[in-house]
Amino acid sequence: MPEVIIVPDQETAGNLVAGAILDLLGRKSDAVLGLATGSTPLPAYRTLASRAAADGLDLSRVRGFALDEYVGLPEGHPQSYKSVIRTEVTVPLNLTPSLVHVPSGDPETIQTAGDDFEQAITDAGGIDLQLLGIGTVGHIGFNEPGSSLSSLTRVKTLTMQTRRDNARFFGSLDEVPTQAITQGLGTILRSRHLVLMAFGEGKAGAIAGAVEGPVSAALPASVIQLHQRATVIVDEDAASRLAHTEYYRYAWANKPSWQSI
Ligand code: GLP
Repeated sequence: MPEVIIVPDQETAGNLVAGAILDLLGRKSDAVLGLATGSTPLPAYRTLASRAAADGLDLSRVRGFALDEYVGLPEGHPQSYKSVIRTEVTVPLNLTPSLVHVPSGDPETIQTAGDDFEQAITDAGGIDLQLLGIGTVGHIGFNEPGSSLSSLTRVKTLTMQTRRDNARFFGSLDEVPTQAITQGLGTILRSRHLVLMAFGEGKAGAIAGAVEGPVSAALPASVIQLHQRATVIVDEDAASRLAHTEYYRYAWANKPSWQSI
């Protein structure tokens, strides 16, 4: 069962997550972070950047692996996750660009890109802390409903719902790629700590299914229930369809001070 932390707003979530990452970096300055895109992790990245700058922290040894990438967007496209990770993460955090990896969505090499990405994660010694958002369909990364619970990095065809959800980042629905390459659910399970964030009522159904529903490929995020250390941080709206909120609040209020998230 994941730990569920219900917070009043996104800033509080961002602070908690930035704090967890800074704790990790205090123990391991070349830690390996799993990087999510989308709007959800942005407050965490911003807080991390400002706290690192305020404390004069050098993050140049930190290594990063993005969760996913669209297939077929031209190099430099502003909505490619390679561009988004550079703008939202690598530059503001002053990470070393060559240490930040995004799976390649280049159609020319797509057949081997999944295996190459898995090898790079293995060579780095695995991911220490994996940030996750969640799609309204219950996906993590781009693992759409029906994804194998033990899948590794590979190409997935996006559901129409996901393409509609992500059309806001593009000019039109037609411009949203049909396929993406994504860390698999098995890849995500190998990370040492999962931190999933969700905000807003639109995520409430997916969160209830992921945390309290049956573990099922029909709701891929439910795979986090199989992980030994998964933390779910949600605002009140995203928590609104959870059944056991009383217990989650009680457990958080009584959490031993020596335990971090
Ligand atoms: C995208 C990404 C996911 C992300 C999800 C939620 O489809 N592939 O990694 O978690 O959407 O996005 P947002 O955080 O913008 O709601």
